[in-house]
Amino acid sequence: MEPAIDLQSVLKEIDEASDLVTLQNVKAKYLGKQGVVTGLFKKISSIPQGERKAFGQMVNNLKKQIELKISEKRAEIEKKMREEKERKDRFDITLPGAIRDSGTYHIITQVMEEVQEIWLSMGFEIATGPEVEDVYYNFEALNTPEWHPARDMHDTFYFNRNRLLRTHTSPIQIRVMENRKPPLAIFAPGKCYRKDTPDTTHLPMFHQFEVLYVDRHVSVAHLKGVLETFVKRIFGKDRRIRLRPSFFPFTEPSFEVDVSCGICGGVGCRSCGGTGWLEILGSGMVHPNVFRNVGYDPEEWSGFALGMGVERIVMLKYDIEDIRDLLRNDRRFLKKFTGVNI
Ligand code: DAH
Repeated sequence: MEPAIDLQSVLKEIDEASDLVTLQNVKAKYLGKQGVVTGLFKKISSIPQGERKAFGQMVNNLKKQIELKISEKRAEIEKKMREEKERKDRFDITLPGAIRDSGTYHIITQVMEEVQEIWLSMGFEIATGPEVEDVYYNFEALNTPEWHPARDMHDTFYFNRNRLLRTHTSPIQIRVMENRKPPLAIFAPGKCYRKDTPDTTHLPMFHQFEVLYVDRHVSVAHLKGVLETFVKRIFGKDRRIRLRPSFFPFTEPSFEVDVSCGICGGVGCRSCGGTGWLEILGSGMVHPNVFRNVGYDPEEWSGFALGMGVERIVMLKYDIEDIRDLLRNDRRFLKKFTGVNI
């Protein structure tokens, strides 16, 4: 007898379902309560006796085939979904992790921090000043008039006749004293600029720090005391210092300070040029004219000042022979100083 529905097209419809919802809908369409096949079952009773058995078998067979196909299709879709999920969630535990290179402070910054810590622990306060400075603060107020030969050593970058990139951190002394009454003790770090051609010991931009102490009855002994403390803490307990007479327009007397050579211990070797000493900073007792320029009475107040290059400390501490290495940005060089101090 004629099949009531075209099995092939039903199977095809099932086969085309690509997800579980569609498949469920197809199932409902044929096998659900209102389904086509269910409808055929309901018809059985109205079929003439003689044909009823064959009709019943045919409908049963139809139902079985559709059910079989649906369960095969469901398994197929579920398998696909599982595979898809596995593919999406899959991660390769043998892949190397994302290695994050940790950054570090530049060695100049690290040493500056270390230096700062030493002065702060001795009671000095931090002070700062502008890198673009007035000629007055950079020279005049520091007792260095225009005709002074000391200005030649500071040939630098001018914006106009009155403004320049500061050549040292000493102008911070003036700015602080103009705004405060003594006694005072300051530590002033910062960048400085000079029109120098880069070589193994010079850079047109470098770092200095300035120390200034003003009080009653300050003497060279105080200066020597803090210098000794500083040098031993930054370079090591076995290092000694010596003061040599020198000249700076803003101090009188002035001293060049040397530290005993760390390689030969002061006997004399190649790295200290046979002298046993290395020059590290300039210092002196604040010149009366400097006090007058900021309205302090030089009869009442006295003080010492010193200024030092930070790159110089870095080079001595870490045996760097060419100052330019500090700015080359060669990662192999920079990485050597990862977390040396901070
Ligand atoms: N400003 C000087 C320089 O850059 C260094 C210096 C010398 C600073 C003596 C001072 C000082 O405070 O007293 O060469």
